[in-house]
Amino acid sequence: MALMLSGSERAKFTAAKLATDYVKTGMKVGLGTGSTAAWLVKHLGAMVTDDGLDIVAVPTSARTAELAIEHGIKIITLDEAGWLDVTIDGADEFDRDFNLIKGGGGALLREKIVAAASHKMIVIADKAKDVATLGNFALPIEVIPFGLQSTQSLIEAKLKDLGFKTLDIQLRKKDDALFVTDEGNHILDARLGTIANPHDLAWNLNFIPGVVENGLFVDICKAVIIGHENGSVELRTLVDGKTVTATTQASKNLFFDIGQ
Ligand code: A5P
Repeated sequence: MALMLSGSERAKFTAAKLATDYVKTGMKVGLGTGSTAAWLVKHLGAMVTDDGLDIVAVPTSARTAELAIEHGIKIITLDEAGWLDVTIDGADEFDRDFNLIKGGGGALLREKIVAAASHKMIVIADKAKDVATLGNFALPIEVIPFGLQSTQSLIEAKLKDLGFKTLDIQLRKKDDALFVTDEGNHILDARLGTIANPHDLAWNLNFIPGVVENGLFVDICKAVIIGHENGSVELRTLVDGKTVTATTQASKNLFFDIGQ
């Protein structure tokens, strides 16, 4: 029976499919977390099984690890890998300078560590994540459980210092309990509206004791693949400090495997 996908799922499927062009036999690959990255894992799994693609992968979360194993991808730890050829991951927002907000799925800490240990980080996303300025999506900030309220107060004070006027910070919950990350921490989601200077904010947040990491990815990503529901893609890359954009039309059989 054909699997019916929504427009946004088709767009994510498409972006993830194009990203597989960047994965070759022999590579060590970082696998992101979230619904777009899940398509990547499925596409790569099919290439491993059907085409003999031989890779090892470092997952950015326990759930991605589970999915990768289920789809026949060999996984290793980041310490075993040492350095990765490429990491491919989703994002909650990206801007024209390749700055990102990540962590909507709660995996920002491992995601940032894995991306930073990669020769190249590629973001895969649908058009909804493309923004002029970051900040509409609440910024995830991972904090350790000890002294949580003090840490939150320090974050609020810092944000006020930096000129953020309306502060809406929520402690993330899941099923009526506190959300716990793969590293045993919690997440504060800070809705900031507009983040004019992501670099400055990221640096200031990480300076606060109790903050483990924040969801701003600055100077890490150099390429974004935007999928569209009709199967076409836009590829944005940063070359010598300038953004180069290329578009690829839909390939005829792109959705063939899922019966669409
Ligand atoms: C996971 O923690 C996040 O950083 C995800 O990469 C991000 O939330 C994108 O997820 P989707 O692909 O599900 O939109």
